[in-house]
Amino acid sequence: MIDKNEIKFSTKCIHVGNDIDKETGAIRRPITMANSYKLPYDASTLNWSDPNNVIYTRTTSANQLYLQERLAALEGAEDCVVLASGVAALAGVFFTFLDKDSHVICSNVSYIAVYRLLNEYFPKKYGIEATLVDTSNLNEIKRAIRPNTKLIHIETPGNPTTRVSDIEEIAKISKSIGALLSVDSTFASPFLQHPLSLGADLVVHSLTKYINGHGDAMGGAVIGRKELIDKIKAEAMVNVGGAISPFNAWLIMRGVVTLPLRMKQHSESALKIAQFLESYPAVKFVAYPGLKSHPQHEIAKKQMSMYSGVLSFGLKADVETHNKFVNSLKLVISAVSLGHDESLIVYTGPNDERNHFYPEEFKNGHLRFSVGLEDADDIINDLKQAFKKCGL
Ligand SMILES: Cc1ncc(COP(=O)(O)O)c(C=O)c1O
Repeated sequence: MIDKNEIKFSTKCIHVGNDIDKETGAIRRPITMANSYKLPYDASTLNWSDPNNVIYTRTTSANQLYLQERLAALEGAEDCVVLASGVAALAGVFFTFLDKDSHVICSNVSYIAVYRLLNEYFPKKYGIEATLVDTSNLNEIKRAIRPNTKLIHIETPGNPTTRVSDIEEIAKISKSIGALLSVDSTFASPFLQHPLSLGADLVVHSLTKYINGHGDAMGGAVIGRKELIDKIKAEAMVNVGGAISPFNAWLIMRGVVTLPLRMKQHSESALKIAQFLESYPAVKFVAYPGLKSHPQHEIAKKQMSMYSGVLSFGLKADVETHNKFVNSLKLVISAVSLGHDESLIVYTGPNDERNHFYPEEFKNGHLRFSVGLEDADDIINDLKQAFKKCGL
């Protein structure tokens, strides 16, 4: 077996966690769809909740272990825990590292489930305090610190604003107060950004997005030091029940193989499309970290190797025209999620409950656009014909 520390990123995507199947000689590991595994002769010696030992699929499965090994290698980390969805992974971090009377600082615009968990459920049900700030502004983070701050959680680039937060600088702040820094790096994937090497303690990914990449499986991962990941496995996996299905773990393992190729293509196409949209007269604004006009373009340049495939934009038009535009597209599909092979667009309308947190230009609703792997010219032609149909 190759030494996984000696090989480059794209080689890891293919080889780490794979091996020759001992029984059949197949050159890739099979899907093991089993809830239970044979116990040893004397089962009384077992730790029934050991998340690193295959006993029962809720404690872990063979396919989960292979995927964890691969993802840990891609982030250059000691360990990884894979769960049923990105939200299960995020909830795992919050349940494990926040306790009664502790305080968390979090981006004020991030994936909606994070907002719900930290702004509503955790404070109301468990007495956990949360301060939501614009984490692209270091002074806002510093001002939010309290003696009981245990965790800073950021999402960069953030959903849906594409706001970028400076991981390295925020890691210095979290270290100075003895808090953990967790980074939701879903938009970037491990190919474009390495939060751990910039000082973060934990990286979270929704595997449903770029890492799987094919829009057919859900999963989530938290990656970092073994002592932290062991805690999540013990406190938020085995006895909570958000285990990933072995089939989904296998699909994601297959999806990862092409991650570098896909991320290059997503990034190249998204930049081309963002530039097209920025030059189009009926477009009110475009938010894409790869554009020079993006407010945190310089930070994105420092910490990302390319800018991924998600952009947001708005039209100089009313709500009805935005709806008509989305429904006039023939190639790009109006659907949630992102990071799939097909291009996806969502128009949220102007009634988002977090409107007061959005940058001014987002407040009339915005179009979140996940640029897929189709030819960029075909996508641009689709946008052009939809603009025309709407008289824009
Ligand atoms: C940045 C980010 N994090 C987490 C999630 C949640 O992932 P999942 O849908 O796999 O639970 C999403 C979903 O869109 C996301 O965009």
